[in-house]
Amino acid sequence: MRLTVDDSFDPIPSLSHLPTVGVTAAASGAEPEAHLVQAEAPLPAGAPTWEELAQVGFEGKAGQRVLLTGQPLRVLVGIDEFSSAALRDAGATAASAVPQSTNLTVHLPAAINQAIPSDRAQLVQALAEGVLLARYRYTPLKSADESPAFAHLTLVSDQPEVAEAARRGAVMARTTNLARDLANTPPRHLNADRLGAVAERLGHKFGLTVEVFGPEQLADLGLGGLLGVNAGSVEEPRMIKVSYRAGERQLALVGKGITYDSGGLSLKPSNPMHALMKSDMLGAGAILAAMTALADLEVDTSVTAWLMCTDNMPSGSSTKLGDVLTIRSGTTVEVKNTDAEGRLVLADGLVLAAESSPDAIVDVATLTGAALAALGPRSAALFANDDHLAHLVEAAAASTDETVWRLPLDARYRDQLKSHVADLSNIGGSYGGAILAALFLNEFVGEVPWAHVDIAGPMYSDQDDLWRVTGSTGFSARLLVELAQTFTTH
Ligand code: BES
Ligand code: ZN
Ligand code: ZN
Repeated sequence: MRLTVDDSFDPIPSLSHLPTVGVTAAASGAEPEAHLVQAEAPLPAGAPTWEELAQVGFEGKAGQRVLLTGQPLRVLVGIDEFSSAALRDAGATAASAVPQSTNLTVHLPAAINQAIPSDRAQLVQALAEGVLLARYRYTPLKSADESPAFAHLTLVSDQPEVAEAARRGAVMARTTNLARDLANTPPRHLNADRLGAVAERLGHKFGLTVEVFGPEQLADLGLGGLLGVNAGSVEEPRMIKVSYRAGERQLALVGKGITYDSGGLSLKPSNPMHALMKSDMLGAGAILAAMTALADLEVDTSVTAWLMCTDNMPSGSSTKLGDVLTIRSGTTVEVKNTDAEGRLVLADGLVLAAESSPDAIVDVATLTGAALAALGPRSAALFANDDHLAHLVEAAAASTDETVWRLPLDARYRDQLKSHVADLSNIGGSYGGAILAALFLNEFVGEVPWAHVDIAGPMYSDQDDLWRVTGSTGFSARLLVELAQTFTTH
C-alpha cells in the first residue's frame, strides 16, 4: 500500500486564522499594552522612573524590554531610532514578550505620530509586520499547540493614515507567513501536484490567473530541464504559471520549486541540512505568496510567475551522471552532478520568461550551498546583468530587511561550464559555486534585464530571533512585493 496524505490536509494553515489589525484613539485596558520608549524619553503614566528601570537593566535600548505587572499587563520596549527595521524589530520584541496573549495593543510613540505622513505609514507598516511575523508558529502537525495563535493587534493613534498602513503591514506579514507555511510543510504533504492545487486555490481567492502544466504539456513545451530532474521520481512534475494583470510594465518572476532535494543519484549525506531540503521550493513558494499581495496593495505593474516544481529523487529511472538534457532554448546540458538540479529547472523557466519579452526577469532560488558559505544565513546573494534592476532589488531588500549582497557575474569563470559532449555542463570547478550557478542561468536570459537571488543562506532560521522565528523564514516574499510596488524600467 502506498502511504498517502489526506486530501483534507491544508498546506497553508496561516490563511485560515489570519490575525486582524485595528486602530483606536484610546486603549481599552482589557489586553496587554506595549509602549515603545527611547532612552530618557517621557514614560507612560504610572510607570517606574528611569532610575528604577535602570536597576532591572532597562535603559530604553533596542532589544530591551521590561514587563510591568498589573492590569493591564504593560511592556516597555526600547527603541534607538525610527527606521522601518527598528520598528519591525520593536514590534517583534513587544509581541514575543507576551507569548500567551492572543491580543496586543501598541501605543505609537510621539515620534511616529508627529512624523511626516509617508514616513509614518512606513514605520507603522513595519511595526505591524514585526508583531505578526514574530507570532508565527507552524503547528498543523503538532497534537497540541504550545502557544495560542495571535488574533488581534490594536494600534493606539489619532492619526488618519495609521489604519491603512497597518492594513498594508498585515498583508505583508500574511505574505511572508504564507511562504513560511509552504516551505515548512513536509515533502510528502506538499509535492508538485499539491503545490499546483494550492496555487489554484490562491489564484481564485486573490484575483490571479493560474495555469498548471502536467508532464505531457511540459514535454510539448520542450522543458527538458524540469523533466530531466523529475525523471527519478514517482511524483509528477508541475509548472505553475501565475499572472497578475495591471499596467503596461511587465515583471517576470521565475521560482525554483524543488519540493524535496535528495540530490538524486548524487545523493546528499543524511545530515541536518539534508532534512531542510523540503524547503528547496522556497523560491517558488515566496513568489507564489508575493503574488497574493499584489491586488490587495494595488500594484500597478503586471507580474507573471513561472514556478518550476518537482522533487529530485534517485531511482532506476533517474537522470544519470553524463546524461544530456535539452533545455527549451535548444541548449544541451551535460548533467555531471544531479544535485545541481535547481539551475536545470530554472533554465527552462528563464527561457519561457524571456520569450514573453518582459521589462525584467527576477529569479529566486535556494540554489547553492556556496551562497550560504559565502554570506552566512543572514544575506542572500544577488546577481544581475543590469545595474538599474540590481538597485531596485537592493532598495526593496533594504526596505523589508531581507538583506541581499551583490556578487559578480564574473565571465572569467564561464569556461568552467564547458562540456565535451554538450553545449554546457551543469557544474564548474570547486570554488565560487554561487557565481558558477549564476553564470549558468545567465545563458538563458538573452538580453532581458535579469536579477538572480540565491536564498540558500537565509531560507531557514534555527532559532527565534525577533521576527525571524524558527523554521522557514519565508525570505524574499515581502522583498518581491516591494519590488513589484516600486518597479520601474530605466
Ligand atoms: N538545494 C541545494 C542548495 C542548498 C544547500 C540550499 C544548502 C540550501 C541549503 C542545491 O540544489 C544543491 O544541492 N546545490 C549544490 C550544487 C553543487 C552540486 C554544484 C551545492 O550547493 O552543493
Ligand atoms: Zn541539489
Ligand atoms: Zn536544490
